[in-house]
Amino acid sequence: MNTKRILVTGGAGFIGSNFVRLMLSEQPDYFIVNLDKLTYAGNLKNLEGFLKHPNHVFIKEDICNGQAVEKIIDEHKIEVIINFAAESHVDRSITGPKIFIETNVTGTLTLLQAARDKKIERFIQISTDEVYGELGPTGKFTEETPLAPNSPYSASKASADLLVQAFGHTWGLKYNITRCSNNYGPYQFPEKMIPLMINNALNNKPLPVYGDGLNVRDWIHVEDHCRAVLKVLTNGNQGEVYNIGSSNEKTNLEVVKTILKLVDKPESLITFVTDRPGHDRRYAIDSTKTNAQLNWHAETNFAQGIKNTIDWYLQNKKWLDDVTSGNYQQYYQQMYADR
Ligand code: NAD
Ligand code: TYD
Repeated sequence: MNTKRILVTGGAGFIGSNFVRLMLSEQPDYFIVNLDKLTYAGNLKNLEGFLKHPNHVFIKEDICNGQAVEKIIDEHKIEVIINFAAESHVDRSITGPKIFIETNVTGTLTLLQAARDKKIERFIQISTDEVYGELGPTGKFTEETPLAPNSPYSASKASADLLVQAFGHTWGLKYNITRCSNNYGPYQFPEKMIPLMINNALNNKPLPVYGDGLNVRDWIHVEDHCRAVLKVLTNGNQGEVYNIGSSNEKTNLEVVKTILKLVDKPESLITFVTDRPGHDRRYAIDSTKTNAQLNWHAETNFAQGIKNTIDWYLQNKKWLDDVTSGNYQQYYQQMYADR
């Protein structure tokens, strides 16, 4: 079989690096060019042991640099682009939305223009269920749910999705869009709820639960997400959107209590803090279409997945200490000082 040459953007981040490691470990027929700006969220340590893999090239670059992207596509004979690169944290999008528009909207546009001009076979946009807005106590997001984003982050991701569809409609660019629910697992930066709570619990620091702690998220293990993206890459129907989820809704309080129990720390560490402005109440994703069409099913149940994730953070204390030194302390002070 011919080697497939794919450009993965954001492959030094949480989900992107899990995807790159999965591909290099199990899919010898793919050559991966990994383009990442290495923002605070990008970390080459996420690729340890894989950086020099013969089917992998890492390039530090910004997806907003169209000339560089075109040059990379030419030089590496790229056939498919998978765009994981993004500013990804809702709280940061509230304190500073501009970079979210630059990377998530302008950056995606830049990649789309290059994909169109260089006649890329397929463009896969890694989106999020947050583009659908929020749910009340019942129902789930399907691929037909209208886009109704609420945060600057989700608005920027929805804008990117619409641009992808517009390039398909206007220029015939072949594409897929995936919309996944909240991920957890190894290498997640501890600004997101699960690794932040694990890190705080391990350090006997208060666990800052926003509002009443009853907001619901639908958790999926990152490896399940990555396997779904691989299915979309191999079997996705042109021009279709695929929801990805694992039917695992939990309130934030349930998740935090589970973490405390697993690390054997007291619930007295839980501290209720001021709510996030515009905090979406509930997300739940219906991935029936992806299950049926792509024969993909999430394999990790939350009880096992969260246990493995905690074990990973315990075994990778150095990774955690490295990413929480320096700028992270300043971030934490600023984000949580007034709460
Ligand atoms: P992350 O913040 O951990 O990683 C983002 C990566 O993109 C980093 O390596 C960063 O350096 C890189 N990057 C940022 N700006 C860039 C730029 N201008 N040019 C090149 N690289 C740049 O994010 P993540 O959690 O791994 O999310 C990856 C993708 O999946 C995002 O598109 C996100 O919207 C989407 N998503 C995330 C979740 C989740 O729960 N984390 C759920 C659904 C969808
Ligand atoms: P997060 O991991 O930031 O993902 P998202 O906002 O994209 O869903 O947050 C998950 C949930 O946890 C969300 O309801 C906000 C809440 N949360 C807290 O209660 N405390 C925190 O310190 C953080 C970061 C999040």
